[in-house]
Amino acid sequence: MGTPQEGRLADKVALLTGGASGIGRACALRYAEEGADVVVADRDAKRGAEVVAEIRNASNRRALFIEVDVSSEDSIEAMAAAAVTEFGRIDTVLAAAGISSAQYVSGAAADGQTGARPLVTTKLSDWQRVLDVNLTGVMLTDRICARHMIELGVAGTIVNVASSAAKIALPGAADYCVSKAGVAMLTQVLALELLEHGIRVNGIGPGFIETPMTQSMRDDPDGLAAIVARTPMGRVGTPREMANAALYLACDESSYTTGHTIYPNGGMFVG
Ligand SMILES: NC(=O)c1ccc[n+]([C@@H]2O[C@H](COP(=O)([O-])OP(=O)(O)OC[C@H]3O[C@@H](n4cnc5c(N)ncnc54)[C@H](O)[C@@H]3O)[C@@H](O)[C@H]2O)c1
Repeated sequence: MGTPQEGRLADKVALLTGGASGIGRACALRYAEEGADVVVADRDAKRGAEVVAEIRNASNRRALFIEVDVSSEDSIEAMAAAAVTEFGRIDTVLAAAGISSAQYVSGAAADGQTGARPLVTTKLSDWQRVLDVNLTGVMLTDRICARHMIELGVAGTIVNVASSAAKIALPGAADYCVSKAGVAMLTQVLALELLEHGIRVNGIGPGFIETPMTQSMRDDPDGLAAIVARTPMGRVGTPREMANAALYLACDESSYTTGHTIYPNGGMFVG
């Protein structure tokens, strides 16, 4: 056990998929600042280990990296079991692992992003891959971690990372939009199912955020102009801004909120 301390997540155990990069990484750091012990779970072991080292340097919290592929039920089961073995329980989950397309590789020099993918010519295997990671991966993460919470009597919280693309149709990204709309509905259904266990399930639906996922778009002047045109605040969001939204949903300050996805997106849905 680390030293007991103050904070919105004091002495809670947080497990974050996608914790090696971008929004998941920012949440891992933010949660540790608020007193949580942190399990960083990701397929990227190198960057995951870096985040763990950052947390250990910046706080007195325990941090652990677990390699996981969220498109595999076995892998997620092993991840959750290892987290419980190591830290005793899981109090809060962030399901952030995701891909923008079947070819996307987070953090790679050639990240695989090739622009629009019209649905009429999208390969079924590509469609399936995006759904497997972004939707089924979140569903499996949620339910496997929820089983541990129920077994251990933990009235925990789950925060799913959807996207503003759950609500706006982006031509050329049907797989992504549909996967994220699915995550928003999953959040609603699971919230009702887990009420009796005192587990709250909420989500965040970011707009355009400064992470590797938007790097190619931000590097392209036309892409950046499109982001600004869609965003009343006229700028991309920061990963820390997303972490603050997720933190609210993860901690007791949101105790009367469940089944809700909030959209920190610079006013995109306002007009
Ligand atoms: N960046 C944005 O503008 C934006 C907007 C809305 C929603 N999102 C969502 O936020 C989440 C995080 O994205 P990000 O922007 O931080 O991108 P990112 O590429 O920086 O991070 C994604 C992380 O997920 C991990 N990951 C991918 N597939 C995985 C798998 N099968 N198993 C385990 N880990 C896997 C990657 O290794 C990476 O660490 C995603 O779900 C994304 O769809 C991002």
